[in-house]
Amino acid sequence: MTPDAVEATPGTQPEVADAAFMSLLMDVDKRRNPYPVFRAMREAAPVFQSSLGGWVLTRYEDCYNVLRDPRGGKDWNGLMMQSGIDDWREHPSLAFGSRSMLFANPPQHTRLRRLVAKAFTPRVVEALKPRMAAVVDRLLDEIERNGGGDLMDMLAFPLPVTVIGDLLGVPEADRPSFRDAVRANTRTLELGASREDIGIADRAALWMQDYFHALIADKRAHPGNDMLTGMLEAEEGGDHLSDGEIVETGLLLFAAGFETTTNLIGNGVHALLTHPDQLALLRQRSDLLGNAVEELLRFDPSIQITGRAIFEDIEIAGHRIPAGSGVMTLLGAANRDPARFADPDRLDVTRTGVEPLSFGSGIHYCLGANLARGEGCLAIGKLLERFSRIEFAEEPRFRDQLGFHGLETLRLVCAND
Ligand code: HEM
Repeated sequence: MTPDAVEATPGTQPEVADAAFMSLLMDVDKRRNPYPVFRAMREAAPVFQSSLGGWVLTRYEDCYNVLRDPRGGKDWNGLMMQSGIDDWREHPSLAFGSRSMLFANPPQHTRLRRLVAKAFTPRVVEALKPRMAAVVDRLLDEIERNGGGDLMDMLAFPLPVTVIGDLLGVPEADRPSFRDAVRANTRTLELGASREDIGIADRAALWMQDYFHALIADKRAHPGNDMLTGMLEAEEGGDHLSDGEIVETGLLLFAAGFETTTNLIGNGVHALLTHPDQLALLRQRSDLLGNAVEELLRFDPSIQITGRAIFEDIEIAGHRIPAGSGVMTLLGAANRDPARFADPDRLDVTRTGVEPLSFGSGIHYCLGANLARGEGCLAIGKLLERFSRIEFAEEPRFRDQLGFHGLETLRLVCAND
């Protein structure tokens, strides 16, 4: 049955919700715009056990509660086993997951996060803004000279990679090589990742890990004024990070620092161009910019799915989820839940109290959220200030991925006339 055929009593058709979910795996076009499918899933059964094994949640409140529930957490081994990848330890791209803060539980998670969290506080981000604004201005100069261009290549990628690269101390000339390598690795986190995807990601992961090991050796010999040097020198209560932990954490920060923010900028500009009334309103009222970025994060988030392993039995909306289960929280679906957001499919830059789930929630709440918001506001605000006319130069195309949602290209005409 197709999602459009959902009719019977809402909330009681897990097999319909599952068929809709599976259609996302089969159909690339549905992955590019998953929201109609998410809606069909939520209406058929907002909580159901998928034929992939795990439970699936599409409502805001359910996702929010599970992400914050201490009876759940991360279980990389369990996730890999559930995905049928029992040899994951032999794959550099997958073995990485088991050591990273993103997939750790307390107390190891607390320890890794504490050692880097102070670099991303609102005050630090505020102090970075003049430098970030100068980067945006320089990138917009180039777009202006060209009368437009591919925004992904000319602003959405170079801004965040420059900001996080400068913070960490990754030399400028080496940064572009990480774009494809990181993207290859995001594919291993997609539902139904193939052995071929994993093979490509392994080669990229090995290269990135070797690169970071060499970089750390270099920082040890020639300390800089950057985070990687800071991590080498960090001593908190006698604790310090091992070289392996610095490589894992540095790579996570670098990859997460650009990949998702690139897509915040791309998806955000795309949403505004396809909603000209909201674009016009934002042009008139620049005071709405901060709010608009929250709404853009809600409307088309760059991370669509995360999840938790359940360590003790829990109950969600009358369903008993036993210990040992995996739960997928569909963030993009939660952000369109009508019980939380009035008229959720409408982009509304005046919407107040948005608080999307786009950065997750609980102890793994995105460490770079302040930075991403700051970059998003500067990129989108300054783009609109600089050009009175911004149009698609060709039909934009989303990537074929579901979990990491972003544009392949975003070719624009940018002019002042
Ligand atoms: C729009 C941009 C971004 C989005 C949508 C995003 C999204 C997310 C989400 C959903 C999580 C939580 C995953 C979970 O609970 O399983 C997360 C965690 C994380 N993010 Fe972001 N992120 C963004 C930008 C950034 C930036 C700029 C950085 C780095 C500077 C960053 C670093 C991290 C780290 C280190 C974690 C793991 C935190 C932990 O496990 O405690 N992110 N991000």
